[in-house]
Amino acid sequence: MKQADIVILDFGSQYTQLIARRLREQGFYAELMPFNATIEQIMAKSPKGIILSGGPASVYASDAYFCDEGIYELGLPMLGICYGMQLIAHHFGGSVRAANEKEFGKAKLSVTEPNALFDGLNSSQIVWMSHSDKVEELPINFKVIAVSENSEFCAYADEARKIYALQFHPEVQHSEHGTAILKNFAKNICGCESTWNMGSFAKSQIAKIKEEVGDAKVLCAVSGGVDSSVVAALLAHAVPENLIVVFVDNGLLRTNERTQVENIFKVKLGVNLITIDASDLFLGRLKGVRDPEQKRKIIGNTFIEVFDAEAAKHENVKFLAQGTLYTDIIESSVAGASKTIKSHHNVGGLPEDMKFKLIEPLREIFKDEVRALGLELGLSRDLVFRHPFPGPGLAIRIMGEVNEPSLNLLRKADVILRDELKSSGWYDKTWQAFCVLLNVNSVGVMGDNRTYENAVCVRVVDASDGMTASFSRLPYDLLENVSRRIINEVAGINRVVYDISSKPPATIEWE
Ligand code: XMP
Repeated sequence: MKQADIVILDFGSQYTQLIARRLREQGFYAELMPFNATIEQIMAKSPKGIILSGGPASVYASDAYFCDEGIYELGLPMLGICYGMQLIAHHFGGSVRAANEKEFGKAKLSVTEPNALFDGLNSSQIVWMSHSDKVEELPINFKVIAVSENSEFCAYADEARKIYALQFHPEVQHSEHGTAILKNFAKNICGCESTWNMGSFAKSQIAKIKEEVGDAKVLCAVSGGVDSSVVAALLAHAVPENLIVVFVDNGLLRTNERTQVENIFKVKLGVNLITIDASDLFLGRLKGVRDPEQKRKIIGNTFIEVFDAEAAKHENVKFLAQGTLYTDIIESSVAGASKTIKSHHNVGGLPEDMKFKLIEPLREIFKDEVRALGLELGLSRDLVFRHPFPGPGLAIRIMGEVNEPSLNLLRKADVILRDELKSSGWYDKTWQAFCVLLNVNSVGVMGDNRTYENAVCVRVVDASDGMTASFSRLPYDLLENVSRRIINEVAGINRVVYDISSKPPATIEWE
């Protein structure tokens, strides 16, 4: 089994995976495990240190999350972050209480005692807080190593036992020296060596897939997006003879998408791609459905049905490979204890009685890491840097019922937006750009006539992993061109608006 430098127990913070990612960026292989993983499961990874993540619970609540108590006795270095910090206090006999006010945002930290965690860093630094409970009394043998204006126990430690606890989130970019703190923990405190990189990740995933698949066959669904293409490339390296690559035209694709996908796989990658036209089936089932979660579930179930039917045509198909990313898992809340934001179709929307075993080699990584992996596997830059496109396709970009007339309107507007972004050089500077059909009519005037037609929303965002995003500051001239062309060229649309919301609190897609 693959060894990990550091095991992170996930108590459900939306930031947990960022801890792993910051460590991996520094060359340390960190792996996430659910908070209730057993000692045996944890020790099977032979970690050199354990991190307890943040989480939404309170250690005194009836539904508090606790890890196997045995981990405190392993003698391994430990780092508790936020909820993890409170757990350490609670376990070793300190006390934690609910604070009167939630502390959220930037705080100024001052290191009060020289210590290995803050070694080599400025004694005064900005950190990111997000908590409501507070440690009130330290357990014996622990001492404060840093304070902030609002928190006398901002960081504390029992250095003899190599146990450290932080009230703030070092993994969040706003924590000025957060990455360096995590590096100090991994390198100086746990004694890990910085040797991990995408090449070693690719090798370990290929070996893992080979071992798991054996002689069986794998059905790999591709969408033309970077995630599923990288999965297909990994499988093509691991089990080329056992691979069946399928592309489902669900009728929810953008203009020319099908031809582009066929071109990428058949021509560029030389893969024997099977295209299944299931558009009537998907659109028939979505008829009259307005609720976004219901749309996602229908699409997820229908995908699986289509794969089932395809699999029945081949012998010994046991696996379904998907490009599920950690972002999908965290928002569908199947990883640990995080709250459900939405059912991503390739995660929460799958039927429970599915016959396939899932292979999801990207479950632990973020989009930008997937892109680095794609380049490592030799995929073209064009493919690797395509904007993400969600599995449920245009269905989640049409508010309300999905039908052919709406899809056609949206496709036409979407082509114009992408065309303008590409010709102005903005496509590569943005994370994602698309139109949303609002299904809201408004009054306009064209020539001398009154119109009463659809409004389209243009959504263009900057992001590095899709977990957070801000709207792109596109030049007004570009926005004007997009708006003018959509209104002039797409009959049925008389108004274009630009979405200026950030994620959070909005999401990137509208649903
Ligand atoms: P949200 O809307 O949650 O989107 O802020 C974050 C990123 O995920 C993409 N997305 C999906 N990708 N299947 C996917 O493969 C899905 O069901 C799905 N839903 C959202 C979205 O386009 C954005 O890049």
